Amino acid sequence: MIRFILNDTEVMLAEPYGTPLLQVIRRNEKLKGTKLACGEGECGACTVLVGSHSPEGMRYHSVTSCIMPIANVQGKHIVTIEGLSLAEPGPVHRAMIECNGTQCGFCTPGFVVSMTGGLLNAKDVTSAELIAAMDGNICRCTGYKSIERAAGKVSEQFTKNTGHDTIDELIGRQVIPAYFGTIKERLFKMSKEELRTPQASSVNIGGGTDLFVQRPYEMRKTSLHTMKSYDDLRGISIINNICSIGAGETMSSLQNSAALKQVIPDIKNYFAPIGSTQIRNMATVGGNLVNASPIGDLTIMFLGLDASIVLLEESGERTLKLREFYLGYKTLSKTTDTVVRRIEFVVPSSSGAFHFERVCKRTYLDVAIVNSACTLECDETDVIKKIRLSAGGVAPIPLYLSNTVDFLTGKTISSELITKASVVLQREISPISDIRGSAEYKRLLLRQLFFIHMAKLSPVPISIKELIKI
Ligand code: FES
Ligand code: FES
Repeated sequence: MIRFILNDTEVMLAEPYGTPLLQVIRRNEKLKGTKLACGEGECGACTVLVGSHSPEGMRYHSVTSCIMPIANVQGKHIVTIEGLSLAEPGPVHRAMIECNGTQCGFCTPGFVVSMTGGLLNAKDVTSAELIAAMDGNICRCTGYKSIERAAGKVSEQFTKNTGHDTIDELIGRQVIPAYFGTIKERLFKMSKEELRTPQASSVNIGGGTDLFVQRPYEMRKTSLHTMKSYDDLRGISIINNICSIGAGETMSSLQNSAALKQVIPDIKNYFAPIGSTQIRNMATVGGNLVNASPIGDLTIMFLGLDASIVLLEESGERTLKLREFYLGYKTLSKTTDTVVRRIEFVVPSSSGAFHFERVCKRTYLDVAIVNSACTLECDETDVIKKIRLSAGGVAPIPLYLSNTVDFLTGKTISSELITKASVVLQREISPISDIRGSAEYKRLLLRQLFFIHMAKLSPVPISIKELIKI
């Protein structure tokens, strides 16, 4: 049995755990404001908010309900556009109307829900923050400028939010209805349905953001075992220079982690173009690693840190290098019962730094053509003490570039060395031509990304123009 609060009403469901939340909202509950368009998490027409307890109080984030299994809404508060309605239009609705942010209106509920999610989460309410909160929403009519103006108008009315009182403040300012103030107490009283006992032959899922796109009908009927119900798969910590990240953490929690920001100062920007806000709010670390996509962004980042993966198996915990986890195309060093517990990496020293790049055909919601990550540490004489280098989209597996790493380690960094290393790098990749680009194009892209890593991370000035000339 699944129990949750839908807007102001408690719902109990005996549907299969893989039933998409959108189906329940539209078909069972007859709330038709949440739309179905792409059904693949790409357009944001089905956006709803998910509220849950956190140490800082109630927290809300936006998700695409078309690919969200109801297993992941147990004990949560789900808010549709109907659940945001007030006696009079609130500031978000008003701004959309006054700025002509809606024409046919099909996408509008999703935009309003996403912008409200942005208001609930923004530390500083700026126009840019609110526009970023709508990065997973597509509109076919407005040309977006009027929606951006609406975001600007909303942001002008709000100053800095501070964690705890955001809900009360937004109720007082008529952004969300008063019943939001009762939710925390009501969720506490709601008994937690036991989801942790896997049924026979059940599929382990995290956010389901890939499985529910690739195999939607099969997943609806499959018995699911949701990893998100495990508290011991959560947490981001740095202890004794080891950064440890639970497999159940979402991409958004990594993007906004203060601990990770200390290690990788640009982490927020690296994550910004990956998927969309809604997808990052759902997708988990464990899901991304097990999915084994040769171009998985998170996998490539962790390979570029030479991370280790910690697996839970019948015999106990097993730790191995992430680069040893991928044996062949979608073939992993694990059994079907293995659970990914966490990922760990040694924090780069003060003389080192990390850099990540990806190239796509469009900014958001696109799979990269090639991506790459690098960690570089040099000593005071500019000798490369340690280098970690990874690349995606250039082999059947997410690739750790061992030969290039071996070639560079212990040598003094220079333009000549980097150019020679790029030849070694080309010998250890095997890209294929496909819908995203030709093999030659991918080779060229990776060479350029490698040069960018070196130009960004090298302690001595490296000119990309010079590298290309050599
Ligand atoms: Fe398009 Fe869900 S219907 S994201
Ligand atoms: Fe028509 Fe956005 S107003 S799709």
